[in-house]
Parts: sequence; structure tokens; C-alpha cells
Amino acid sequence: MPDSAALNHAARIVAQASREQPADAVLRDYLVDPTRTRMAPGEKRAVVRTVFTYFRWLKWLEPRDSLQKQFSQALALQQRFDENPLSIKAEALAVRAVPAWLRDEMEMSADFLRQLQRDPVVWLRARPHTAEKLAAALGDCVSAALTQLPALNPQLFTTASAALGYTGTKDLFRTPEFGAGAFEIQDLASQFVGHACAPQPGETWWDACAGAGGKTLHLADLMQNRGLVWASDRSARRLTALKQRTARAKVFNYRTALWDGSAHLPTKTKFDGILVDAPCSGVGTWQRNPHARWTTLPGDVSELAAIQLQLLNHVAPALKPGGRLIYSVCTLTRSETTAVAEAFAAAHPELEPHPLFGVHPAATHAQLTFLPHEINANGMFVAGWKKQT
Ligand SMILES: C[S@@+](CC[C@H](N)C(=O)[O-])C[C@H]1O[C@@H](n2cnc3c(N)ncnc32)[C@H](O)[C@@H]1O
Repeated sequence: MPDSAALNHAARIVAQASREQPADAVLRDYLVDPTRTRMAPGEKRAVVRTVFTYFRWLKWLEPRDSLQKQFSQALALQQRFDENPLSIKAEALAVRAVPAWLRDEMEMSADFLRQLQRDPVVWLRARPHTAEKLAAALGDCVSAALTQLPALNPQLFTTASAALGYTGTKDLFRTPEFGAGAFEIQDLASQFVGHACAPQPGETWWDACAGAGGKTLHLADLMQNRGLVWASDRSARRLTALKQRTARAKVFNYRTALWDGSAHLPTKTKFDGILVDAPCSGVGTWQRNPHARWTTLPGDVSELAAIQLQLLNHVAPALKPGGRLIYSVCTLTRSETTAVAEAFAAAHPELEPHPLFGVHPAATHAQLTFLPHEINANGMFVAGWKKQT
């Protein structure tokens, strides 16, 4: 049980968290506040764990109790669940672990619901061919190929050979390896998106919703830094963060551009490949970010689905003949995944479904859904098309 100081920090963070100020962002700002630099790393970890455990078990708690009392109940529930996941009935999880509206948007198995209640794995992506060396330097790393989960397709994990699960307690951002650009913190599902793109050295790619560049960096690595990646986003702040990350990683074969998602594209360039890693409701991240379960609304899903379709429609003309378009969202709602893919395909006879070979050499599917309990990581939907030559 965390000490009372940690519980008081957690209470202040929970009180500040809202739809406008998500708990993970409040936590980040709170813990880097210079007045708290004297907090020991162990205490910071206890605060983070308390906040996330509270939101994970929120619907089991009595809101009239003090936050401190609710924290101890949530932590006790977590302990009980960790010791015996079957101690919490799937029926209870279906009603309390997620909002009711999700039932209209996806099938929820007991395994999926149980996964949402576990602590998530911290996934790293090592630079090409350095995973073993990085694992030895950092310690406490497990190769993705060795993670024991029943539903795994072993081939997937051979593909993601740079993925390492980190089980230690170091502040990874302060390690010399991080400073030297030896790895990125990137969820395994996001790494599968890079592999689904399968960019080749010398090609020209457009990462249209690049954000802070997690996938731009991966594309550049897969291209062995040969060729060019255009990275656009509507947020200048995120593109600034992208430039800091590329500098640290010593990745130079990229170009940034602001793009608001409109039909007015940032360049006349035609691309060998375009990735639309679109803004989405993020249901696939609800294990890592349980506060979002209670702030995401059904209206967000329909609004974001419309934006995703529009982004795809706007980028499609920028494909070269034979060029590939990859659409990814870290969500699992029908409206944002298969429904968008179907509507887009219906409007674009010039595109054909493109099997996602990069994820699996024998892949015959042009659409893949990665479920959190199958890969021990975020949920993700990926679809691919190819422009006819
Ligand atoms: C899922 S995030 C991208 C994450 C990023 N690809 C990565 O791997 O780190 C979606 C991004 O889309 C951007 N975005 C949202 N709406 C947009 C729009 N209408 N046009 C362009 N970008 C948009 C957001 O700023 C956000 O950075």
C-alpha cells in the first residue's frame, strides 16, 4: 500500500483530471513540476499506479467515500484480480470495466475484458539489429518473441524483432541509451503498423498524421535511412517534438509539413506509400489509459470516424500508380475500423485491397485487428490498399 504522501499526490491528480485534462497528461505535468523533483522514483511509481488503478476499478468504488479510501479499495481489488483473474466474473467486468455504449461498437470477450484490468507492458523498439545489445545494457528486458501468450502468432513476433518488453524500474527517459537514441518507447501494436507499411529503402513515404513521430522514426529505420519520409500533422507542437526525436535518433531522411487534413495537400509529391495513423477514440489504449474509458463519448466515435474517412479521401490522390495506402487506428469500434474501410473502398475503385505482407510474409489479409489480450499490447486496426498501375 502506498504511503499517505503518495495517496495525497494521487488525490490531487484525480481531482484535476477531466475530459479536457486527461489523467495521463495531468500526471505527466504533476510529476515533472520542479517543486516535486525531490519525490523518489519509487514514490512517483506508486502515485502513477494508484491513479491508474483507481480509474481501472472506478465502477466498483463508492463515490461518496474519500478518495484515499477509494484508492485502498481499488488497490485491494487489483491485488485480488492479479492473484486470481477469475475471481472477478466476466459479467461484472462487462458491466463495470467499460462504458455501456461500447457494447454497440464491438464484441467483448472475457479475455479482452480481463486484459483491460491488468497492468500494461512497457514496450520498447530498439534500433535495427541492436535489440540484444540494448537488452543487455538496460537489463530487465523480455524479447517480444519470448512473451508467453496463448493466442500469439509466433511469426508476428519474429517480424517485430526490435520489440522488447521492459520489466524494470528505471526511469527510461533518463538512461544514457535513451539519450543516445538507442530506443523509442513504442507500443508493440504501433510497431506492427510500421511493419504493415513495409517501406522499402529509397521509397518516398508520407506519414500524414505523424504526431510526435513514433511511426515516422520506425518508417525511416525500416527504410535504412534511404529515401524520404514526409511527416505532416495539424499540430505544430507535435511536429516540434518529432524534430527533437529525429535529432536524438540521428534520422535525417525526413521532411515536416503542417497539414490540417483538408483537400489542400502540403505537397504535389506522389508517394510510394502513405500512412494515415488517424486520430481515433483510442479504445485500444484503455488498458494503458483507463481514465479515457470514462471521458470518451459515443459522439466522439462518430465524429472521428467521419474525420478518418475524410483524411483517407484527401490523401488517396497523392498515391503513385502501384502506391500503397495504410490506414491505422488504435481503436476497436466498428464505426471507426471496418465501417470506415468499407466506405472508403466503395468510393475508390482505383484502389485494391493490399495484403499486409510486412506483418506476416504469408499474410493474405488486407485488414488486421490486433486485440490487446492476443498481443499483450494496445488494440489496433490496420487496413491496406494499393493503387492499380
Ligand atoms: C494517432 S495520432 C498519431 C500518432 C503518431 N502517428 C505516432 O505514431 O506517434 C493522430 C494524429 O493526427 C493528428 N490530427 C488530428 N486531426 C487531424 C487532421 N484533421 N489533420 C491532420 N492531422 C490530424 C493529431 O494531431 C495527432 O497527432
